Amino acid sequence: MSIRHYLQFKDLGADEYAYLLQRAAFIKAKFKAVEKYQPFADPDRTLAMIFEKASTRTRVSFEAGMYQMGGSVVHLTTGDSQLGRAEPIEDSARVISRMVDLVMIRTFEQTKIERFAAHSRVPVINGLTNEFHPCQILADIFTFIEQRGSIQGKVVAWVGDGNNMANTWLQAAEILGFKVHISTPRGYEVNPALAGITGNDCYQVFDSPLDACRGADLVTTDVWTSMGFEAENEVRRAAFKQWCVDEAMMAVAKPQALFMHCLPAHRGEEVSAEVIDGPQSVVWDEAENRMHVQKALMEYLLLGKLA
Ligand code: CP
Ligand code: NVA
Repeated sequence: MSIRHYLQFKDLGADEYAYLLQRAAFIKAKFKAVEKYQPFADPDRTLAMIFEKASTRTRVSFEAGMYQMGGSVVHLTTGDSQLGRAEPIEDSARVISRMVDLVMIRTFEQTKIERFAAHSRVPVINGLTNEFHPCQILADIFTFIEQRGSIQGKVVAWVGDGNNMANTWLQAAEILGFKVHISTPRGYEVNPALAGITGNDCYQVFDSPLDACRGADLVTTDVWTSMGFEAENEVRRAAFKQWCVDEAMMAVAKPQALFMHCLPAHRGEEVSAEVIDGPQSVVWDEAENRMHVQKALMEYLLLGKLA
């Protein structure tokens, strides 16, 4: 198999997602049964993780997942590597990819991860950029299916910033055949062109967040200020005031609607404590599922289809 990277959600097709989602369920079942599953043990496979931004879930899920599969990890940050001392990203890619089997990167501009991938001998996974967060949306979709069955034809309400998560939801909707209802404050809209969305069948824009949530199967949001945009914090806090997912929004969604948040969350800002800690919230399963879907993704990128 030639090298496959996972830099955006649209890097894989619907058939590949069908495979990955069932594979993630298989791998999760092994984990729950405390059964060893180590396709990366012999020969030993190594994942390099490069973090230019903070992380809890992404680091733990990739690192624990890799060890569970019998492999090992190398953890690099901007501050403790030559990345922080202006070594060109292309040179870093050439060197790192001669020593490991797989690379996960969390960084700023998408162009940075694309430049790395262009000079890498091994698959590169996007662990979050300013523009996209595909591993998170993969976990969210796996979680939805686990709880409610197929996501095809369903409505996902996105309330808040038109950010990396929102862009990735658009790509997923186009590939997997569901619809995103988006409501953002003015000036913080999603950018379908950046996501590469050509038609408008997979999304609908609403001025009012309440209207976006009406009849939704899933209501989801994210922080008002993403990493790298901290200087805008105060301006955003004022602009996003009406975009807090609360019980009134959940009440107009379908009675069986789920609530998701990629975390970390700020109770009382983008979501009320009643919603995130309430009965419709599946945020802890969602976080755990990062590990299961990423194990399936790493297996696929390194070993191809196994079943
Ligand atoms: N959701 C997510 O990516 O979390 P971290 O920033 O903690 O990795
Ligand atoms: N949109 C957020 C997601 C954090 C997991 C950010 O980019 O900071």
